[in-house]
Amino acid sequence: MIDKIDNLKNEISALTASSAEEVEVLRIKYLSKKGSVSVLFNDFRTVPSDQKRVIGQALNELKNMATDKINSLREALESTDSVDASLDLTRTPAVMPLGSRHPLSLVRNEIISIFSRLGFTVAEGPEIEDDWHVFSSLNFAADHPARDMQDTFFIQRDPDVLLRTHTSSVQSRVMEHTQPPIRIICPGRVYRNEAISARAHCFFHQVEGLYVDKNVSFADLKQTLLYFAREMFGPETKIRLRPSYFPFTEPSAEMDISCNLCGGKGCSFCKHTGWVEILGCGMVDPNVLDACGIDSKVYSGYALGMGVERITNLKYQVKDLRMFSENDRRFLEEFRSAH
Ligand code: DAH
Repeated sequence: MIDKIDNLKNEISALTASSAEEVEVLRIKYLSKKGSVSVLFNDFRTVPSDQKRVIGQALNELKNMATDKINSLREALESTDSVDASLDLTRTPAVMPLGSRHPLSLVRNEIISIFSRLGFTVAEGPEIEDDWHVFSSLNFAADHPARDMQDTFFIQRDPDVLLRTHTSSVQSRVMEHTQPPIRIICPGRVYRNEAISARAHCFFHQVEGLYVDKNVSFADLKQTLLYFAREMFGPETKIRLRPSYFPFTEPSAEMDISCNLCGGKGCSFCKHTGWVEILGCGMVDPNVLDACGIDSKVYSGYALGMGVERITNLKYQVKDLRMFSENDRRFLEEFRSAH
């Protein structure tokens, strides 16, 4: 009897089933009234009374073990069944929310693409800078107000470590280790200690352009500017250069474009002048070339610098600068169809 019980235990523990029907067949085979386990219970009556205690215990164990085994086979199948039933592999997947490019990235990429068609390549520099690259090498006088604490974020004094206030610093970095011809476009983030409002922010973005070679003239600069303005704002765009002052260029100018909202007729956006200012530019001051190790008697160059936020405002009429850094999805999603 004990042997029979042990054999059945071994047999049952090795059982497998691949469907609910098979499990039912096994249950009937072992646990129904006429099943092998139940038959042994019937035989129990014939067991001599001195063995009843041991064999009774073994029989109960067998029955429990058989019941557990059948249940676990059934459960294992049910759990895979339910996954299969809920998994419809033919269903169209749920739409994943797609991101969109940030308007400033769109415009920066467009500026880069326009200048790269003229042979400019991208150069980048660090945002944490020193006085030499941001100011001194660019011909800023020692007492120039831009160095003042009120404009510049200083991280450390003596030696000065500061956040760059313009991307013109990349000019001097590139000129330091490259001899002309140099034709670079330098996009990047810049920092100024300004109170944050709709019209000013403590960080914003610029793109700097620099061309240094033999015989570079103001006429070359003007031609490049006209090409840029028309590519960026459309073929009807006119440009106007006004004399200005920057320490690192001589002569210096500011460029206006005909207002792209009213086409130059005059509107509130251009304050009824028909023109809007978009960038600063000029011929690289010989002092800057010399400070950066380029012979100003042999080479000349032009430079230009523009704010990406400003160009973006003109293209997309964003009224409040803060929108660019607040990550409001309603704003960002408006640029989804832009490339
Ligand atoms: N660095 C100037 C600024 O931040 C912009 C600028 C003006 C850059 C004239 C130039 C330039 O390269 O020639 O306001």
